[in-house]
Amino acid sequence: MLQVLAERNFPVTELIPVASERSVGKEVVFKGKKYKVISMADGIAAKPAVAIFSAGGTTSLEWAPKFAEAGIKVIDNSSAWRMDPGKKLIVPEVNADALTADDFIIANPNCSTIQMVVALQPLHKKYTIKRVVVSTYQSVTGTGVKAVDQLKGEREKEVKGTAAEYPMAYKYQIDLNVIPQIDVFLENGYTKEEMKMVKETCKIMRDDSIRVTATTVRIPVMGGHSEAVNVEFEKDFDLAEVKNILSAAPGITVVDDPANQQYPMPMNAHEKDDVFVGRLRRDESQANTLNMWVVSDNLRKGAATNAVQIAEYLVSQNLL
Ligand SMILES: NC(=O)c1ccc[n+]([C@@H]2O[C@H](COP(=O)([O-])OP(=O)(O)OC[C@H]3O[C@@H](n4cnc5c(N)ncnc54)[C@H](OP(=O)(O)O)[C@@H]3O)[C@@H](O)[C@H]2O)c1
Repeated sequence: MLQVLAERNFPVTELIPVASERSVGKEVVFKGKKYKVISMADGIAAKPAVAIFSAGGTTSLEWAPKFAEAGIKVIDNSSAWRMDPGKKLIVPEVNADALTADDFIIANPNCSTIQMVVALQPLHKKYTIKRVVVSTYQSVTGTGVKAVDQLKGEREKEVKGTAAEYPMAYKYQIDLNVIPQIDVFLENGYTKEEMKMVKETCKIMRDDSIRVTATTVRIPVMGGHSEAVNVEFEKDFDLAEVKNILSAAPGITVVDDPANQQYPMPMNAHEKDDVFVGRLRRDESQANTLNMWVVSDNLRKGAATNAVQIAEYLVSQNLL
């Protein structure tokens, strides 16, 4: 988050790092300057214009309303407020225009949903989406540092035969494996991550008629989520026009040159803010249907960049 704020030259007049009581007094560095971490209560007293939360759902449920009551705009990375009917769920390229000065808690969507809706929105405008079938290939960084350590530990063990103690973020080995479960299973047999993609897509795109079905899968990749997205439209499309629409859309880079084996890959999306789209082709099994491959850095556009872009929008529209 700090790296993205610095890189994008967000107009920070005062940085106020806040964490749990465990971290109070520790230092963080922002643009070469050291800042002391303070507590949540002191964070509210410092009255920042914007508070970007990335502290999990429980912390957010407890503290975001307190920040909001103090007149501070909260942009929250957790899932706590995403489906709250009174809160906006924002991907700036898609629905930033929904924001008003009265929105004090703004939710940042799920990482896999963010990159998908960036690619879907410009096509929906032109051809009207009926149904989306998505399968994800998600990086371990989406789980957090424990999962990165598990993957590194497993790799070390494969190379050396033994490894220092490492945690198990997943029930199963992730290296040399693919785990078709992200988050917990729900009663309908889908995982929570899959249902987030279904529900959040309709909320962000402001269209409950879009039918979405998802299979979300964890793969042993260190950074960047990939998605195979099959989209059925009401209207027919021209493939060259689809490519032009996506190329002109904000936040998208089209990488689609099969003759030269050019397509998006997580390795190339790493540390980039854009959503990369390629493998554009007609689904020959069904009318008006497109296949595409969508890749993005899940910690950037899927989290930090999207949150900072929301803050940028609030600044640019005088909504603070
Ligand atoms: N698309 C997205 O927006 C997206 C993507 C990835 C993750 N997430 C969500 O973001 C959240 C955090 O993920 P992360 O990887 O950033 O976690 P993280 O690296 O573990 O950071 C969590 C931060 O929250 C602080 N914190 C924890 N409990 C707190 C409390 N009671 N009061 C104040 N601060 C507290 C921690 O402070 P200490 O260091 O003092 O413990 C730490 O600074 C999770 O809810 C996750 O689901 C969202």
